[in-house]
Amino acid sequence: MNTLTTVEDIIQSPSTITSTLSIRNGEEVLFRPLAKDDARLLGEYFLNLSFATRDLFGPHAFNQETADRLCEELNPLETLRMIGVSELEGQPRFIGYFLLKFGIPVGTIERYQGFGIELDDAKDCLIAPSVADDYQNKGLGSVLFRELIDIARRGGRRYVVLMGGVRGVNERGIHFYQKFGFVTAGEFENRGNNFDMYLKL
Ligand SMILES: CC(C)(COP(=O)(O)OP(=O)(O)OC[C@H]1O[C@@H](n2cnc3c(N)ncnc32)[C@H](O)[C@@H]1OP(=O)(O)O)[C@@H](O)C(=O)NCCC(=O)NCCS
Repeated sequence: MNTLTTVEDIIQSPSTITSTLSIRNGEEVLFRPLAKDDARLLGEYFLNLSFATRDLFGPHAFNQETADRLCEELNPLETLRMIGVSELEGQPRFIGYFLLKFGIPVGTIERYQGFGIELDDAKDCLIAPSVADDYQNKGLGSVLFRELIDIARRGGRRYVVLMGGVRGVNERGIHFYQKFGFVTAGEFENRGNNFDMYLKL
């Protein structure tokens, strides 16, 4: 259906990665790239995350300063930051924040080499999902994650790799990734046992 084939093409056409999606309760959620003027709403999203969610999802700090910096330094060709937006009585609220990072850090490449898997910085990408606490377990994550994986596929990526793996205690996360076809590459220690999981597109 879509003929775009590179990440550059996709990023340069934000409308092709913006969609309105329905979730299980019938609510409509806008899924779009983060924009420069989103700092206040992103900060609100970060500050409202519970300790439990922050503890499982850790790409950076969750404070207003970080939200300000991320919006100021937007670089979607390096990391595409997508947000799920709900609108209640005309007031937008961020209810999901998903990352797709193009390129793979050396540490991850080396860890995967240890499992016998050669990741390629130019062909593979990292993914990290998060959903606001009061929207978790309602199907929102699945709807947005499917969309993000599709963006990676359209961008011609080969493997989608979990950013920082998934903690062994995160049974929901592991189930969630397996549901999308992710498989375990191996295990590593970091504050307990973690699994490196990836999806071949
Ligand atoms: C992981 C996360 C992104 C998933 O989004 P979500 O909107 O909650 O997910 P969904 O409701 O679409 O799906 C959750 C799935 O987990 C299942 N699930 C819920 N609790 C579970 C548990 N304790 N053990 C196993 N599976 C569980 C649900 O049944 C559902 O599976 P199904 O679709 O097969 O029925 C979200 O819960 C989140 O942000 N969690 C905290 C941060 C986090 O863990 N991020 C990932 C770090 S690697």
